[in-house]
Amino acid sequence: MKYVSVAIDGPAGAGKSSVSKAAAKSLGFTYIDTGAMYRAAALFAIEHGIDLKNNVQELISHLDDIKIVIKYTDEGQRIYLSGKDVSERIREEEVSVGASDVAVIPQVRTKLVELQREMAKSANVIMDGRDICEYVLPDAQVKIFLTASVDSRARRRYDELTAKGIECDFEKIKADMEYRDKNDSTRAVSPLKQAKDATLVDTTDLTFEQAVEKVKELIKNVL
Ligand code: DC
Repeated sequence: MKYVSVAIDGPAGAGKSSVSKAAAKSLGFTYIDTGAMYRAAALFAIEHGIDLKNNVQELISHLDDIKIVIKYTDEGQRIYLSGKDVSERIREEEVSVGASDVAVIPQVRTKLVELQREMAKSANVIMDGRDICEYVLPDAQVKIFLTASVDSRARRRYDELTAKGIECDFEKIKADMEYRDKNDSTRAVSPLKQAKDATLVDTTDLTFEQAVEKVKELIKNVL
């Protein structure tokens, strides 16, 4: 049986995860959040005191010890690092910045891309990330580049963290986002950019519901 793959790329905080999750739920697809895997790898580095700016080699030498498992429950995707549920911990700002640093390491990418491709083989999936359209799932039937202005992305992240009771500072979030945009789009391996065959969805002026509808429409075209 041939499964449908939907690839969604875009910068941090554009709403990829929440839009993908909602569209997947409504269409009965499995949602795969690849950013969570880079975040889990960053958390491994943080927990082991590995300095990602100056000692990448140390992380590479521990690559086989980074055990990431994704499980699906009624509440959605849960991510485990070495058997421990880290789904909430990986959303903290320190881990967000670390994830962007981890994501420039080719050996880490190779390991995680293998896991991602394996997961797409056995279900209809919506997979989001930065390199999904061109690299992870180049044969995906639907390809989308989901973006929004940096201000509205920082505002959404701020509101999201505040709603969860996580203390944060808007200007710091915006600066971190700009740092990550630059890091993600200028790195040598799989930099973030819109694939030639991806449809652009700009959510700056869309409500959440409108963004979900737009994505669902694009998927329904191929069903
Ligand atoms: O989508 P996110 O914010 O959870 O992603 C965390 C970091 O991981 C982000 O800085 C970019 C990186 N990433 C990547 O390089 N490739 C992916 N497929 C997914 C995320």
